[in-house]
Amino acid sequence: MNIAMIGTGYVGLTSGTCFAEVGHTVVCVDTNTEKVEKLKQGIMPIYEPDLKQLVVSNQAAGRLSFTADLNEAVRLCDIIFIAVPTPPQLDGSVDLSYIEAVSRSIAGALKSEYGYRIIVDKSTVPVSTGSKVGQVMMRYAPEGIDVDVVSNPEFLREGSAVSDLLNPDRVVIGTDSERAMDMMKRIYQPFNAPIVEVDLASAELIKHAANSFLAMKISYINAVSAVCEAAGADVEQVACGIGLDKRISRHFLNAGLGYGGSCFPKDVKGFIHIADQLGAPLNILKEVEQINADQLERFLKRIREKLWVLRNKRVAVWGLAFKQNTDDTRESVAIKLIKQMCDEGAQVTAFDPEARETGAVALDGYPVTIVDDMYACAQDAEVLIVATEWKEFAQANFQRLRECMALPIIFDGRNLLHAENVVHAGFEYHSVGRKSLYPAGGEQ
Ligand code: NAD
Ligand code: UGA
Repeated sequence: MNIAMIGTGYVGLTSGTCFAEVGHTVVCVDTNTEKVEKLKQGIMPIYEPDLKQLVVSNQAAGRLSFTADLNEAVRLCDIIFIAVPTPPQLDGSVDLSYIEAVSRSIAGALKSEYGYRIIVDKSTVPVSTGSKVGQVMMRYAPEGIDVDVVSNPEFLREGSAVSDLLNPDRVVIGTDSERAMDMMKRIYQPFNAPIVEVDLASAELIKHAANSFLAMKISYINAVSAVCEAAGADVEQVACGIGLDKRISRHFLNAGLGYGGSCFPKDVKGFIHIADQLGAPLNILKEVEQINADQLERFLKRIREKLWVLRNKRVAVWGLAFKQNTDDTRESVAIKLIKQMCDEGAQVTAFDPEARETGAVALDGYPVTIVDDMYACAQDAEVLIVATEWKEFAQANFQRLRECMALPIIFDGRNLLHAENVVHAGFEYHSVGRKSLYPAGGEQ
């Protein structure tokens, strides 16, 4: 099938590429012409494991192309996906101006001689957005246009997007049109995934409800981690004990510094806002947000207690990205932590395997030194903070690290390091929801 993917960001680029990988012909459209030109040359705008090779091979096979010409893509393709940003506004509501702008552009590009077209919303949107897109088609497309609007939310995670897309847990398709449903099922047939066939509004709600549920799970275990710290219990043991219950599951029960990223914070806010607007408030999610904010503050308080004052302290931070295996620093808790430390006068040096450039942009104006080696980052530091769950941090040589640092103090905000290795190398080790551990010589 011929697919147009409007918006070539994390979702559009990875999902467009995976549609090409399973045999469809895909045109990715973006208004950012520099990005389009680079992609034509196989230069990736983002770091996402396994993506580059698929982009290059599918372009070479003639199944994947990039353009800034939306009109041409609408002429060529029966199915037009929208994957543009839906950022939060100050009041928590979702900025739908990108969706509106693209919908109008599509309506303006449609011609009755092209035949039937399906407009599929893949961006995360509040319930009822799809029906508004339908209204835009009625208002702005020429008369006699044969078009259906579908909601097909995306559940990929950054850092494992390619594998999530090629092996989805489920595919949600929301539409009242049988014809559109049949075509959508044909598109997804090569993925061999369970298909959830629902109406448009339910599909939109599934996405907000799923992301908010996952955020709630994280906040739940983080709230439990505070109780563990107060009671001298171990949150990892608690998570294991409750997670083995299949009804609960161990996934997304990793206590840490809280959730970040371009989606959970904005989607929880967006869901709260639309629920309020509909007169069905989701107060539970307000608490989820509060716990998420408290989690970082509680961690910072423990660091302050240990170092006494932060002013002029040499602090090393491992991690800038909002999670492992990505260069994305949008709403990264690591960035928030560093900004707070700088505001309190600490001298921060940071390292991230992939997010050094995006991190530098996010920290523009803050006196942070970003280095390209994790040991150089820790040189002469009085404390090391692990802020992102990159696997390579756990695999560090802790003897070597000990020789770099001025004081042997580690705060692990992701419960990532192997406590025994760390303490054996002479560090005192502070983590989340667990007792602090000290080397034989005792506390520094
Ligand atoms: P992004 O910012 O990475 O990419 C969006 C792209 O759209 C950019 O390249 C931008 O240039 C382009 N764009 C903007 N206006 C355009 C227009 N009028 N025409 C063509 N292109 C245009 O965003 P993203 O992270 O891919 O997110 C897109 C949507 O998908 C959001 O609603 C997000 O919530 C949702 N989502 C994101 C993820 C994720 O992991 N990032 C996962 C699931 C769903
Ligand atoms: C999340 C969802 O997992 C995807 O299903 C969804 O498609 C996507 O949002 C979206 O809508 O954009 P993503 O934000 O890429 O994916 O990454 P996650 O792995 O969910 O992590 C989000 C945040 O939660 C990270 O900051 C991570 O460190 C944190 N997290 C995750 C925890 O603190 N504990 C956990 O147990 C899991």
